Amino acid sequence: MAYYCQTCGYRSVKWLGRCPGCGSWDSLVEEADRGSRNGNSPPSRKARLLRLDEISVEETQRYPSGLAEFDRVLGGGLVPASLVLIGGDPGIGKSTLLLQVARDYHGRGRRVVYLTGEESPAQVRLRAERLGVPGDLKLMAENDLSAVLSALEEEKPEILIVDSIQTVYLPELSSAPGSVSQVREAASRLLRLAKEERVAIFIVGHVTKEGALAGPRVLEHLVDVVLYFEGERSGPYRVLRAVKNRFGPVDEIGVFEMGERGLVPVENPSGFFLSGREGAVFPALEGTRPLLVEIQALVVKSYLASPRRTSVGFDPWRLSMLLAILEKHLGLSFYDRDVFLNVAGGLRIREPAADLSVCAALLASRLDRNLPGDTVFCGEVGLSGEVRPVLALETRLKEAVRLGFRRAVVPAGAKSLSPSLELVRLSRLEELRQWL
Ligand code: TYD
Ligand code: MG
Repeated sequence: MAYYCQTCGYRSVKWLGRCPGCGSWDSLVEEADRGSRNGNSPPSRKARLLRLDEISVEETQRYPSGLAEFDRVLGGGLVPASLVLIGGDPGIGKSTLLLQVARDYHGRGRRVVYLTGEESPAQVRLRAERLGVPGDLKLMAENDLSAVLSALEEEKPEILIVDSIQTVYLPELSSAPGSVSQVREAASRLLRLAKEERVAIFIVGHVTKEGALAGPRVLEHLVDVVLYFEGERSGPYRVLRAVKNRFGPVDEIGVFEMGERGLVPVENPSGFFLSGREGAVFPALEGTRPLLVEIQALVVKSYLASPRRTSVGFDPWRLSMLLAILEKHLGLSFYDRDVFLNVAGGLRIREPAADLSVCAALLASRLDRNLPGDTVFCGEVGLSGEVRPVLALETRLKEAVRLGFRRAVVPAGAKSLSPSLELVRLSRLEELRQWL
């Protein structure tokens, strides 16, 4: 027996409160040793050496589902013999999305099997009827993965959906379903199935509170494609994002609206993430598409010894950095304030180009000013308070013009784009305060 970190898979012979591998607390769990099979037994066969020019290259074949927003994120469609992981919060709509995808592949004559370890067949049927899935879609409700694999030998599907990896298990391992060793082993069996039988497999993975794919960070290395499904459960919009893709670009997103009859693709989403326009509007660039999002901040007097810093949809570390820059270069105190930052619509923003809009939202709340609703903010902020240029400013600003914005606060040196868009060029953060 040994202890394995449920987050990163670190192995330790004794229990530790904190994992030395990834720094998570309380994540080590005792499990049967899984290293033993990699022992020193003689190899059963030899690996083969290849010359590059012996390898046949066919144009990567793809299965498009016809669900445009979905195919876009996959880089044009699903690649046969690939393993695709879809992560997301519980209840965000992963099962709904995959059932729709199953419906569309089925409708295009692909052999699809939907494996559910989570819901009863009756539950799946009810949902499937609402989504217009034809009655002859093949479903398997089973948690024992070896039983699933033997059944699939006859069925020979082209596409398999495993919902979810945390609910299937291999009986020969002693650890519980959902533990790192189960998840890892189950995923490697599925990988073998994908590569040997040329099945394209979707694996659903639940996400922990911290936003990591639960337990199996290890899975991300194993699979070909990692997609995240995100959004605010209470709101209608959902974003599907590729964070790893061996067959296509990453950071391309697909936008959906959750309705009565499942997820409806949103083809022109750029203005959908604007709410009441009380915060600072940031023209984000998601893959090749601009998307205007609203960044809201609340800065209030704190009565706590260490004031609160809460950030939803924006890297908390980067928020702390921007607060420090504002303190140092604008002489504004934040150490005695609670700070809340929120990206409207449940979107996650990862671009440094959002810095200026975050600073504008923070400053406006700290100084009790209103931000003009017809203005977008776009620029990276450096440690010494300088405003830096960003990628593809023109694409972003064009979209702002299209949606009726009249003004853009941008890095110095930005070129004028349209007479209807006034540019406020900044080279330092201090100038933002003067402008406000
Ligand atoms: P689900 O796909 O079960 O989420 P996950 O598999 O990620 O846990 O999504 C469940 C939510 O979606 C649930 O709160 C109900 C909602 N929903 C709709 O609003 N409309 C629909 O047509 C369907 C099928 C679900
Ligand atoms: Mg589900």
